[in-house]
Amino acid sequence: MQPTTPILHFPNDLAQATAFIKAGECVAIKTETVYGLAADASNEDAVRSIFKAKARPATNPLIVHIASIADMKKWARDIPSKAYLLAEKYWPGPLSLLLKKQPWVSDTVTGGQDTVVLRIPASNDFLSLIKAAGVGLAAPSANKYKFISPTCAAHVLTSLHGRIAAVVDGGRAEVGIESTIVDVTGEAPCILRPGPIDRDSLKHDLQTEVTFKNNEGLTVPGSVLQHYQPNTLVKMLSQNALVQKRFTKGEGLIALSPCTWPLEKRNHIQLSSTPKEYGRDFYDALHQLDKQGLSCIYIEALPNTDSWFALNNRLSRVVALG
Ligand code: TXA
Ligand code: MG
Repeated sequence: MQPTTPILHFPNDLAQATAFIKAGECVAIKTETVYGLAADASNEDAVRSIFKAKARPATNPLIVHIASIADMKKWARDIPSKAYLLAEKYWPGPLSLLLKKQPWVSDTVTGGQDTVVLRIPASNDFLSLIKAAGVGLAAPSANKYKFISPTCAAHVLTSLHGRIAAVVDGGRAEVGIESTIVDVTGEAPCILRPGPIDRDSLKHDLQTEVTFKNNEGLTVPGSVLQHYQPNTLVKMLSQNALVQKRFTKGEGLIALSPCTWPLEKRNHIQLSSTPKEYGRDFYDALHQLDKQGLSCIYIEALPNTDSWFALNNRLSRVVALG
C-alpha cells in the first residue's frame, strides 16, 4: 500500500491502474453513481484489502461489477428471466441485482451470504478497467465505513488518502447516489436499497408488485441506520422551521427552497428542487460543509413523495438519531 495516493487519468494511466488491480491492490474509480473502491473480486486477499482500507466489517458484502450480461452466469446461478429483463433494460446503469451465487464465489465478497450482487456500471473508466484487468471488480463506495459517499476524486481522498493504491480522476459522478439494489431471487422482486431506478419503473417493467424491504430484515447490512455520516452533527429542518430559524455563523444549511434571507454564503447551499439534480449534488454539498468545522449542518426536509423516496432514505441516514 502506498503512503500517498497517486491520482491517475484515463486513458493514459489505464495500464498503471490495471497493474495495481493485477497486483491485488485497490483503486478508487468513478461509476456513474458514486466512486467505487475496486479490487479483483476473484482474489480473496485483494478483496480483504478493500475491507481494510475502508475499515468496513467483513460481514458487509460487496457488489461485483462486471462488463457484460454474459458474465452474470460466471458469478450467479439459477438466474431468473426477470433478472435478464432488468439487466437488458438498465445495464450499464444504476441497478444492482441480488442473485444466488455460484459456489466458487468467495465468502469474503459475499460476507458469507449465499447470494451475490452484480452490476454493470455506466462509466467508461470503470468498464475499461474491468476489461483490461479481465476480472470482475468488487467495489463498495470509496469512502471510509459510515462516512459520506464520494462523488469526485477529492471526496475519495478525504477519507482514503494513503490507504489505497490510486484514485482515477474521472470527474464528477453524474447520478450522485448509490444504485438501486433489487433482490430477484424470490417470486416477488424486492428493493433492498432504494436508488435512482424507482419502484414504479420496476413494477412497470416486471408487470408485478415490487416490495420494499426495510432494514429490519438486515438483508443489506449496509442499511444500518446512520450509514452515511459526516463528522459534523446533522439535523433536519421542516420548511416552516427553516423560515423561522435564525442561523448563527457556525451553522450550515442545505436548502431546497429558495433562501430569502441573507446567506452565510460559504455555509449555505441551495440545491435544485428536482430529485435528479438534488441527488447529483447532495453528497457533494455534505462534503463541502463537513470540511468547514461547523457546529451543525441543517438539511431542509424533502417532499414526502415517491420521486424523493431514495433521497429521503439517504437523508434519514445522515441525520443524527434522537
Ligand atoms: O452505486 C453503487 O451501488 C456503488 C457503486 C460503487 O457501484 N456501490 C455501493 O456499494 O454503494 P456499497 O458496498 O457501499 O453498498 C452496497 C450494499 C451494501 O449495503 C451491502 O451490504 C449490499 O449492497 N450487498 C452487497 N452484496 C450483498 C449480498 N450478497 N447480500 C445482501 N446485501 C448485499
Ligand atoms: Mg457505501
